[in-house]
Amino acid sequence: MKAGARSRAKRQFGQSTLPLGNLDVGQLRDSIQFLRGFARNPAQVGSVVPSSRHLEQRLVREARLSEARTVVELGPGTGGTTAAFLRAMSPVARLLAIELDREFHRHLGTSLPDPRLILELGSAERLADFLAAHRLPAPDAIVSRIPFSTMPPAVSDRVAAAIAQALRPGSRFVAYQVRAHVAGFVSPYLGEPDKQWEVVNVPPVRVFTWVKAGH
Ligand SMILES: C[S@@+](CC[C@H](N)C(=O)[O-])C[C@H]1O[C@@H](n2cnc3c(N)ncnc32)[C@H](O)[C@@H]1O
Repeated sequence: MKAGARSRAKRQFGQSTLPLGNLDVGQLRDSIQFLRGFARNPAQVGSVVPSSRHLEQRLVREARLSEARTVVELGPGTGGTTAAFLRAMSPVARLLAIELDREFHRHLGTSLPDPRLILELGSAERLADFLAAHRLPAPDAIVSRIPFSTMPPAVSDRVAAAIAQALRPGSRFVAYQVRAHVAGFVSPYLGEPDKQWEVVNVPPVRVFTWVKAGH
């Protein structure tokens, strides 16, 4: 493939849908790390490749990250989405990223040195504790890829309740998932979401957006 065509393809499809020949060293290392994470715990990680650049940009828009001051990411994995969120966010904003996998958490600590980023190791069920520990206000946006379809239902319900409790009226919860289970857990708390598909991703995912009512 010629250089111009390669860069057009890269812009269109993003890092995770390209042949390995187009990945830079950092992306290749992240992809291998991600695959290892999937091998360690397939149900928890829920995907074999990180999200595409296309999907990252859709999440940035849906969550309105360029206007946000306090953002939470649930399940940052190897940090591709986290880096994209930080690029879109204001210099004075903060991003709390909560990851359950110890290896991913360690990798994030070394690969993303950004003073706006706060990393926590643990389950998203502990969202309120982590916000309080860092004296963060109610988030403007929470973005999540944790797998609501494979987590025990009691865990999914506790995460959904914690998200609804943490948000202020007008703030957003954006979940991107292969399956639709997340809506069954979150809608009883936050009502009906806006639903879209992002097809330029492996695999294509649904993007659900809730805006907390009660302005
Ligand atoms: C599919 S990966 C998403 C990675 C990255 N955000 C992306 O889109 O490429 C899902 C991540 O959620 C994490 N995870 C699963 N259950 C979790 C929980 N209860 N709390 C926090 N993170 C969790 C997994 O360890 C994994 O890193």
